[in-house]
Amino acid sequence: MNKERKLIIAGNWKMNKTVAEALILAQGLKRELREVKEVDVVICPPFTALESVSKEMLDSNIRLGAQNMSENNFGAFTGEIAAGMLRELSVRYVILGHSERRQYQKESDELISKKAQAAHAASLKPIVCVGETLDERESGQTEKVVETQVRGSLAGLTKDQMEESVLAYEPVWAIGTGKTATSQQAQDVHAFIRKLLVSMFDETTARRVRIQYGGSVKAQNARELMGQKDIDGALVGGASLDIRSFGDIIKNSI
Ligand code: 13P
Repeated sequence: MNKERKLIIAGNWKMNKTVAEALILAQGLKRELREVKEVDVVICPPFTALESVSKEMLDSNIRLGAQNMSENNFGAFTGEIAAGMLRELSVRYVILGHSERRQYQKESDELISKKAQAAHAASLKPIVCVGETLDERESGQTEKVVETQVRGSLAGLTKDQMEESVLAYEPVWAIGTGKTATSQQAQDVHAFIRKLLVSMFDETTARRVRIQYGGSVKAQNARELMGQKDIDGALVGGASLDIRSFGDIIKNSI
Protein backbone atom coordinates (compact mmCIF):
# COMPACT_ATOMS: atom_id res chain seq x y z
CA MET A 1 0.00 0.00 0.00
CA ASN A 2 1.45 3.36 -0.99
CA LYS A 3 0.99 5.70 1.96
CA GLU A 4 2.20 9.20 2.72
CA ARG A 5 3.19 8.10 6.25
CA LYS A 6 4.54 4.72 7.33
CA LEU A 7 1.73 2.67 8.85
CA ILE A 8 1.94 1.89 12.56
CA ILE A 9 -0.16 -1.02 13.81
CA ALA A 10 -0.23 -1.66 17.54
CA GLY A 11 -1.77 -4.47 19.57
CA ASN A 12 -3.30 -3.40 22.87
CA TRP A 13 -3.50 -6.61 24.85
CA LYS A 14 -5.37 -4.85 27.68
CA MET A 15 -5.65 -6.97 30.88
CA ASN A 16 -5.00 -10.26 29.13
CA LYS A 17 -2.21 -12.85 29.08
CA THR A 18 -0.11 -14.31 31.87
CA VAL A 19 3.64 -14.11 31.37
CA ALA A 20 3.68 -17.62 29.91
CA GLU A 21 0.82 -16.83 27.51
CA ALA A 22 2.37 -13.51 26.56
CA LEU A 23 5.62 -15.24 25.61
CA ILE A 24 3.82 -17.71 23.36
CA LEU A 25 2.01 -14.87 21.58
CA ALA A 26 5.17 -12.77 21.28
CA GLN A 27 7.23 -15.67 19.93
CA GLY A 28 4.53 -16.49 17.40
CA LEU A 29 4.30 -12.90 16.18
CA LYS A 30 8.06 -12.65 15.90
CA ARG A 31 8.02 -15.69 13.63
CA GLU A 32 4.96 -14.65 11.67
CA LEU A 33 6.10 -11.07 11.04
CA ARG A 34 9.83 -11.65 10.56
CA GLU A 35 9.79 -10.31 7.00
CA VAL A 36 7.60 -7.26 7.64
CA LYS A 37 9.46 -3.99 7.11
CA GLU A 38 6.74 -1.84 5.55
CA VAL A 39 4.76 -1.34 8.76
CA ASP A 40 5.86 -0.35 12.27
CA VAL A 41 4.49 -3.11 14.49
CA VAL A 42 4.05 -2.51 18.23
CA ILE A 43 2.74 -4.86 20.92
CA CYS A 44 1.52 -3.60 24.29
CA PRO A 45 1.37 -6.43 26.86
CA PRO A 46 0.32 -5.86 30.49
CA PHE A 47 3.08 -4.50 32.78
CA THR A 48 3.73 -7.91 34.32
CA ALA A 49 4.78 -9.39 30.98
CA LEU A 50 6.88 -6.46 29.71
CA GLU A 51 10.24 -7.68 30.96
CA SER A 52 9.93 -11.22 29.57
CA VAL A 53 8.48 -10.06 26.26
CA SER A 54 11.15 -7.38 26.01
CA LYS A 55 13.91 -9.99 26.23
CA GLU A 56 12.12 -12.18 23.73
CA MET A 57 11.86 -9.30 21.24
CA LEU A 58 15.50 -8.18 21.38
CA ASP A 59 16.26 -9.60 17.94
CA SER A 60 12.93 -8.65 16.40
CA ASN A 61 11.53 -5.75 14.36
CA ILE A 62 8.48 -5.62 16.64
CA ARG A 63 8.55 -2.75 19.15
CA LEU A 64 7.24 -2.78 22.68
CA GLY A 65 4.61 -0.49 24.17
CA ALA A 66 3.02 -0.10 27.60
CA GLN A 67 -0.67 0.57 28.22
CA ASN A 68 -0.33 3.42 30.71
CA MET A 69 2.20 5.24 32.89
CA SER A 70 2.35 7.80 35.67
CA GLU A 71 2.74 11.51 35.03
CA ASN A 72 5.34 11.51 37.86
CA ASN A 73 8.95 10.40 37.59
CA PHE A 74 9.36 8.62 40.94
CA GLY A 75 8.27 8.75 44.57
CA ALA A 76 5.33 8.00 46.81
CA PHE A 77 2.73 7.02 44.22
CA THR A 78 1.63 3.54 45.25
CA GLY A 79 0.74 1.28 42.36
CA GLU A 80 2.09 3.59 39.67
CA ILE A 81 4.78 2.95 37.04
CA ALA A 82 7.13 5.70 35.81
CA ALA A 83 8.34 6.33 32.27
CA GLY A 84 11.96 5.64 33.25
CA MET A 85 10.99 2.19 34.53
CA LEU A 86 9.48 1.42 31.15
CA ARG A 87 12.52 2.71 29.28
CA GLU A 88 14.67 0.37 31.33
CA LEU A 89 12.74 -2.52 29.72
CA SER A 90 13.31 -1.11 26.23
CA VAL A 91 9.70 0.02 25.94
CA ARG A 92 9.39 2.60 23.11
CA TYR A 93 5.69 3.51 23.11
CA VAL A 94 3.01 4.09 25.71
CA ILE A 95 -0.76 4.19 25.20
CA LEU A 96 -2.22 7.20 27.00
CA GLY A 97 -5.81 8.23 27.65
CA HIS A 98 -7.42 5.04 26.37
CA SER A 99 -11.20 5.39 26.63
CA GLU A 100 -11.27 2.59 29.21
CA ARG A 101 -8.96 4.63 31.45
CA ARG A 102 -10.92 7.80 30.75
CA GLN A 103 -14.08 5.92 31.79
CA TYR A 104 -12.95 3.69 34.69
CA GLN A 105 -10.04 5.70 36.11
CA LYS A 106 -11.62 9.07 35.25
CA GLU A 107 -8.49 10.26 33.43
CA SER A 108 -8.85 13.85 32.26
CA ASP A 109 -7.33 15.56 29.22
CA GLU A 110 -5.19 17.59 31.60
CA LEU A 111 -3.75 14.46 33.22
CA ILE A 112 -3.16 12.86 29.82
CA SER A 113 -1.23 15.93 28.63
CA LYS A 114 1.00 15.70 31.73
CA LYS A 115 1.62 12.03 30.99
CA ALA A 116 2.40 12.81 27.35
CA GLN A 117 4.98 15.39 28.42
CA ALA A 118 6.51 12.96 30.93
CA ALA A 119 6.65 10.28 28.23
CA HIS A 120 8.56 12.59 25.87
CA ALA A 121 10.92 13.66 28.63
CA ALA A 122 11.89 9.96 28.93
CA SER A 123 12.05 9.44 25.12
CA LEU A 124 8.91 7.32 25.07
CA LYS A 125 6.50 7.91 22.20
CA PRO A 126 2.93 8.39 23.44
CA ILE A 127 -0.04 6.91 21.58
CA VAL A 128 -2.73 9.38 22.65
CA CYS A 129 -6.29 8.08 22.36
CA VAL A 130 -9.42 10.12 21.65
CA GLY A 131 -12.95 9.21 20.63
CA GLU A 132 -16.63 9.90 21.16
CA THR A 133 -19.32 7.73 22.79
CA LEU A 134 -22.43 6.57 20.95
CA ASP A 135 -24.58 9.24 22.67
CA GLU A 136 -22.14 11.92 21.65
CA ARG A 137 -22.11 10.73 18.02
CA GLU A 138 -25.88 10.47 17.86
CA SER A 139 -26.33 13.94 19.26
CA GLY A 140 -23.98 15.38 16.63
CA GLN A 141 -21.16 16.18 19.04
CA THR A 142 -18.39 14.01 17.58
CA GLU A 143 -16.22 16.88 16.33
CA LYS A 144 -16.71 18.98 19.43
CA VAL A 145 -15.78 16.08 21.75
CA VAL A 146 -12.78 15.00 19.68
CA GLU A 147 -11.55 18.60 19.40
CA THR A 148 -11.70 19.09 23.18
CA GLN A 149 -9.82 15.83 23.75
CA VAL A 150 -7.17 16.54 21.12
CA ARG A 151 -6.53 20.11 22.30
CA GLY A 152 -6.51 19.14 25.98
CA SER A 153 -4.49 15.93 25.74
CA LEU A 154 -1.79 17.43 23.53
CA ALA A 155 -1.53 20.75 25.36
CA GLY A 156 2.04 21.80 26.02
CA LEU A 157 3.71 19.56 23.44
CA THR A 158 6.27 21.15 21.13
CA LYS A 159 6.09 20.59 17.36
CA ASP A 160 8.97 18.13 17.56
CA GLN A 161 7.25 16.19 20.34
CA MET A 162 4.02 16.17 18.37
CA GLU A 163 5.75 14.68 15.34
CA GLU A 164 7.09 11.88 17.53
CA SER A 165 3.65 11.21 19.01
CA VAL A 166 0.95 8.97 17.60
CA LEU A 167 -2.77 9.71 17.85
CA ALA A 168 -5.41 7.01 17.99
CA TYR A 169 -9.00 7.75 17.04
CA GLU A 170 -11.11 5.13 18.78
CA PRO A 171 -14.86 5.73 18.72
CA VAL A 172 -15.99 4.26 22.04
CA TRP A 173 -19.04 2.65 20.43
CA ALA A 174 -16.77 0.62 18.14
CA ILE A 175 -14.51 -0.80 20.85
CA GLY A 176 -15.05 -4.48 21.53
CA THR A 177 -18.54 -4.31 20.03
CA GLY A 178 -17.87 -5.74 16.59
CA LYS A 179 -19.24 -2.46 15.21
CA THR A 180 -16.50 -0.85 13.14
CA ALA A 181 -16.81 2.73 12.00
CA THR A 182 -17.22 2.71 8.24
CA SER A 183 -14.01 3.65 6.51
CA GLN A 184 -15.66 6.93 5.48
CA GLN A 185 -16.76 7.74 9.06
CA ALA A 186 -13.24 7.05 10.28
CA GLN A 187 -11.58 8.99 7.44
CA ASP A 188 -13.82 12.02 8.12
CA VAL A 189 -12.76 12.21 11.77
CA HIS A 190 -9.09 11.57 10.92
CA ALA A 191 -9.16 14.42 8.38
CA PHE A 192 -10.82 16.63 10.99
CA ILE A 193 -8.09 15.79 13.53
CA ARG A 194 -5.34 16.53 11.01
CA LYS A 195 -6.90 19.93 10.27
CA LEU A 196 -6.98 20.60 13.99
CA LEU A 197 -3.27 19.75 14.22
CA VAL A 198 -2.58 22.36 11.52
CA SER A 199 -4.23 25.00 13.68
CA MET A 200 -2.52 23.81 16.88
CA PHE A 201 0.96 23.26 15.38
CA ASP A 202 1.55 23.80 11.66
CA GLU A 203 1.05 22.21 8.26
CA THR A 204 4.31 20.24 8.24
CA THR A 205 3.78 18.82 11.73
CA ALA A 206 0.19 17.86 10.94
CA ARG A 207 1.31 16.12 7.76
CA ARG A 208 3.86 14.02 9.66
CA VAL A 209 1.75 12.84 12.61
CA ARG A 210 0.40 9.32 12.34
CA ILE A 211 -3.23 8.82 13.31
CA GLN A 212 -4.36 5.27 14.03
CA TYR A 213 -7.92 4.01 13.90
CA GLY A 214 -9.12 1.68 16.67
CA GLY A 215 -12.38 -0.16 17.26
CA SER A 216 -13.14 -3.71 16.08
CA VAL A 217 -10.29 -3.77 13.55
CA LYS A 218 -10.00 -7.25 12.03
CA ALA A 219 -8.18 -8.89 9.15
CA GLN A 220 -11.33 -8.48 7.02
CA ASN A 221 -11.69 -4.70 7.41
CA ALA A 222 -8.04 -3.69 7.81
CA ARG A 223 -7.24 -3.17 4.14
CA GLU A 224 -10.14 -0.84 3.48
CA LEU A 225 -9.53 1.19 6.64
CA MET A 226 -5.78 1.47 5.99
CA GLY A 227 -6.53 2.52 2.42
CA GLN A 228 -8.01 5.83 3.63
CA LYS A 229 -5.86 8.89 3.09
CA ASP A 230 -5.64 10.02 6.72
CA ILE A 231 -5.64 6.62 8.42
CA ASP A 232 -2.04 5.73 9.21
CA GLY A 233 -2.42 2.54 11.18
CA ALA A 234 -4.52 0.73 13.73
CA LEU A 235 -4.77 0.22 17.47
CA VAL A 236 -6.11 -3.30 17.78
CA GLY A 237 -7.66 -4.83 20.90
CA GLY A 238 -9.33 -8.25 20.72
CA ALA A 239 -7.83 -9.29 17.40
CA SER A 240 -4.30 -8.60 18.66
CA LEU A 241 -4.53 -11.50 21.15
CA ASP A 242 -4.13 -14.15 18.50
CA ILE A 243 -1.09 -14.74 16.31
CA ARG A 244 -3.03 -15.43 13.14
CA SER A 245 -5.58 -12.61 13.43
CA PHE A 246 -3.02 -9.90 14.34
CA GLY A 247 -0.59 -11.23 11.74
CA ASP A 248 -3.30 -11.12 9.07
CA ILE A 249 -4.27 -7.55 9.94
CA ILE A 250 -0.69 -6.52 9.29
CA LYS A 251 -0.27 -8.56 6.14
CA ASN A 252 -3.58 -7.27 4.74
CA SER A 253 -2.44 -3.69 5.37
CA ILE A 254 0.79 -3.90 3.37
P1 13P B 1 -11.14 -3.87 19.93
O1 13P B 1 -10.20 -4.03 18.75
O2 13P B 1 -11.26 -5.09 20.76
O3 13P B 1 -12.45 -3.28 19.50
O4 13P B 1 -10.45 -2.78 20.90
C1 13P B 1 -10.00 -1.59 20.38
C2 13P B 1 -9.17 -0.90 21.41
O5 13P B 1 -9.68 -0.45 22.41
C3 13P B 1 -7.73 -0.82 21.20
O6 13P B 1 -7.13 0.05 22.08
